[in-house]
Amino acid sequence: MDKETILSWLKEEDPKRLEKLWQEADKVRARCVGDEVHLRGLIEISNYCINRCYYCGINRDIRTLARYRMTEEEIMAVVREIVKRGYGTVVLQSGEDPGIKRTWMSELIRRIKGETPLAVTLSLGERNVGDFAAWRKAGADRYLLKFETSNRYLYRYLHPPRQGEEIDRLILLEELSSLGYEVGSGIMVGLPGQTYEDLYEDLSIFRRLDLDMIGIGPFIPHPKTPLGCHPDWLSRSEVPNTDLMTCKVIALTRLLCPMANIPSTTALATVNPASGRILGLERGANVIMPNFTPIKYRKLYDIYPRPQETAPGGEDPLSIILSLGRRPGKGPGNRRRQIF
Ligand code: 5AD
Repeated sequence: MDKETILSWLKEEDPKRLEKLWQEADKVRARCVGDEVHLRGLIEISNYCINRCYYCGINRDIRTLARYRMTEEEIMAVVREIVKRGYGTVVLQSGEDPGIKRTWMSELIRRIKGETPLAVTLSLGERNVGDFAAWRKAGADRYLLKFETSNRYLYRYLHPPRQGEEIDRLILLEELSSLGYEVGSGIMVGLPGQTYEDLYEDLSIFRRLDLDMIGIGPFIPHPKTPLGCHPDWLSRSEVPNTDLMTCKVIALTRLLCPMANIPSTTALATVNPASGRILGLERGANVIMPNFTPIKYRKLYDIYPRPQETAPGGEDPLSIILSLGRRPGKGPGNRRRQIF
């Protein structure tokens, strides 16, 4: 697909023509990663964060937010629940929390790998190579680190660098890959100031990095953040932060990166609670990440406003999967290297 074609799909509004994009993405999804939908149990282990991202509701400037860091025992209890549900992967996610120490994390990973058959995915933000190497050695399988937008100016603006530290996430992704992790990244769709050209660049980077996992969600304004309390900034977007726009990016990602594991994200389900999750799965996605964070912490992991689910694991992912004629994935659900 050349640049013009990609840009014209990104700007396409006609539902009839878009139907062709959805069908093509679904066909490639079926052929390249099959009908299995992999389930990853998500645990948000800490909401401490030292960054000041303008879009994010747990950024360090939000002083009114109570902060938590789960204990090893609390995390292990949830891990056992995820095993009981028959899932193949646990995802440990947090803000950028220096209170999560290298050795503590290594021991937790060793324990999960020793006591369960789960694949372990980490999503703990920017860390030094020593941490990445130690956690890989302890048995971690995958690492997620979104680059959020390929537009360097926009990224720098929305994600102000800490003093004296300008970290290039694309370089970190390459380091993670050379350590033997399966590597995931992704972006937000509809950020103020983001253009269609930017999305084209994002898609090119997905392809160039040969990512194993690609997460794509709409930007959701959070009223306590700089982006959420300046409505005039929001009107300055070329790209809408809608479910439709997000689905176009998911579908194009499937066409450009046919073997990647692509989640139908919670952010997509948040902007369209009735059918976001399903639309993602029908338009290229093959993964769901149900939230297992204990209820008392979940409302504190407030990256963007989302409905409060009451049950661990939330909406019944199994019935969604079966209603689409698909089946839940078995085992860890690694990225496929070959068409089966
Ligand atoms: N809207 C959508 N996604 C967000 N994230 C953070 N804030 C928002 C928001 N307001 C996503 C980013 C980040 C992850 C922690 O959550 O992609 O990588």
